[in-house]
Amino acid sequence: MPHSTPSISVQVYDNATQRAQVIALWKTVFGYDSPHNEPSLVIDQKLAVKDDLMFVALAGDKVVGTITAGYDGHRGWLYSLAVLPEHRHGGIGSALVRHAEQALLSRGCLKINLQVVESNSQVVAFYQTLGYAVEPRVSMGKRFKAES
Ligand SMILES: CC(C)(COP(=O)(O)OP(=O)(O)OC[C@H]1O[C@@H](n2cnc3c(N)ncnc32)[C@H](O)[C@@H]1OP(=O)(O)O)[C@@H](O)C(=O)NCCC(=O)NCCS
Repeated sequence: MPHSTPSISVQVYDNATQRAQVIALWKTVFGYDSPHNEPSLVIDQKLAVKDDLMFVALAGDKVVGTITAGYDGHRGWLYSLAVLPEHRHGGIGSALVRHAEQALLSRGCLKINLQVVESNSQVVAFYQTLGYAVEPRVSMGKRFKAES
């Protein structure tokens, strides 16, 4: 069921009509400097999973925000939360998170995790308004191949 603020709806991403807008939005909001984060590749790899957990916020036909979720059967994860700068502070980011939460909950997910890069730590306050807490964890990762 799509979530709505007064003029925004949140829906599952439609590759046929929204791809170029999402790529432009991510380049605007995140910028990209490494090939593994190239938006086309990220979208194609997510679509290959066929889980319908990539969402867009729409103002009419215009994509103004995105969020991607993942569920591995144990934990849910949130990624790629982004709202166009000129559309921020209107509740769109919160609506995207709430929509992704409901999608994860409906799949049986009991806990959601997310990571915030250190240089973006001011966004922690945003997630706290939505009930997320900083947890005492050390985040670790491993890459399978060298990336430039
Ligand atoms: C984070 C982001 C998605 C929030 O989108 P938004 O549509 O502005 O969010 P909302 O309007 O729902 O915000 C609700 C409240 O959260 C808080 N908040 C929102 N963005 C915030 C930020 N960047 N820093 C601190 N608090 C923030 C505010 O209390 C805000 O209420 P206010 O508008 O009355 O001040 C948006 O700022 C964004 O795209 N940032 C760049 C990408 C990013 O950092 N993504 C998260 C990666 S982990």
